Amino acid sequence: MADLFATYYYHPRADTTPEHAAQALAEEETTGTWTDISTTTDYIRRLDGVVESVEPHGTGYVTRIRYPLEIFEPGNIAQYLSVFAGNLFGLGRLETVRLLDVEFPDTLVAPFHGPKFGMEGVRRLVGTTKRPHVGTIIKPKVGLSPEDTARVAYDAAIGGVDLIKDDETLTNQAFCPIPDRVAAVMGRLDEAQSETGRHVLYAVNVSTRADRILERAEIALEHGANMLMVDVLTSGFDAIRALAEDPSVKVPLHIHRTMHAAMTRNPEHGIAMRPLARLVRMVGGDQLHTGTASGKMGHTPVDEIRGDNEALLCRCYGLKQVFPVSSGGLHPGKVAAELGALGTDLVLQAGGGIHGHPDGTAAGARAMRQAVDAFMEGIPAEEYAKDHYELEQALRKWGSSAARS
Ligand code: 3PG
Ligand code: 3PG
Ligand code: MG
Repeated sequence: MADLFATYYYHPRADTTPEHAAQALAEEETTGTWTDISTTTDYIRRLDGVVESVEPHGTGYVTRIRYPLEIFEPGNIAQYLSVFAGNLFGLGRLETVRLLDVEFPDTLVAPFHGPKFGMEGVRRLVGTTKRPHVGTIIKPKVGLSPEDTARVAYDAAIGGVDLIKDDETLTNQAFCPIPDRVAAVMGRLDEAQSETGRHVLYAVNVSTRADRILERAEIALEHGANMLMVDVLTSGFDAIRALAEDPSVKVPLHIHRTMHAAMTRNPEHGIAMRPLARLVRMVGGDQLHTGTASGKMGHTPVDEIRGDNEALLCRCYGLKQVFPVSSGGLHPGKVAAELGALGTDLVLQAGGGIHGHPDGTAAGARAMRQAVDAFMEGIPAEEYAKDHYELEQALRKWGSSAARS
């Protein structure tokens, strides 16, 4: 039976060797501690972590650690994380350490059902096969009444978005309670659908304490929700699982990753997005934010984002694919850069880039769709804008920009 392997990029403390530092990591996360102890018995040696390799990399080193399968409790993500993403980050013998990736054996993925819909299922709901989806975020991110939230949603739907989401800080506040918000938005989306024939998804942010999230989801579903959203790092991986694995939740899950930059941003220390993306796929997220190639929070190299998206899209473990979401600072002038860098199996989301359009939300949505159509037809946005007014207005306000390297 295969073991679990984790790869780390690290700098050993000045007074220790790269090998000793890697060994300290392997011991801390399996059978050792900082000193020899009298209570260790021979039969536990089979659970020792093993340093498989230490290679120089950049100004530091990369080590691959083998964690024996037997130290994991199959299906317990909290325990998985406490092994390969636990105390090691505080170990004195490592100056800095970043978890780059995790190779899960089938045995440790088997207890998870993965996405209920997956990218194909979401595409089927919306009625697309190849083109990228366009989404927007209700802005301002908090404060609007249920009726005004619904008005913004209606305008975005009429303009052509496939998806509307709550922002990551909007949940069930007194100024916009979920039952009122969902009823109001879904009512306006039904109106939009009767006018356009298009089915638009609305991802309601049901993030809350893990033991209440199913109850909150049921309230949203009773009021007509056709998609749910969870902030995975603030709610917990198992909050997603509670929804994905419950047969009464028959809608896709949109996963936001707010707080991730506390772990993913520093290339020297923390946790890269890739292992987090693999865990979200296992617990059943249908779509997941993985960053932009040209947006407002551009700290991750584009190659790294491509690899993160590949972890969502690869045919592996028999799990459905997860729809990657590119969001944060996007506008119609960045669409070609995003799609050129990240491909078309992508949900492109714009909040300010739609609601900030000179002619309002519906025009902003139209401009995003026109920018996507231009890319799909292989026409430069500036060319396409000559006979697409909304795109022309967006480029006039924000210009076009390229992806980061
Ligand atoms: C937002 O909430 O502004 C963006 O989706 C955050 O982007 P990130 O997922 O790259 O942090
Ligand atoms: C998100 O939650 O995806 C963001 O808030 C994106 O917002 P922006 O497009 O205005 O950056
Ligand atoms: Mg947001």
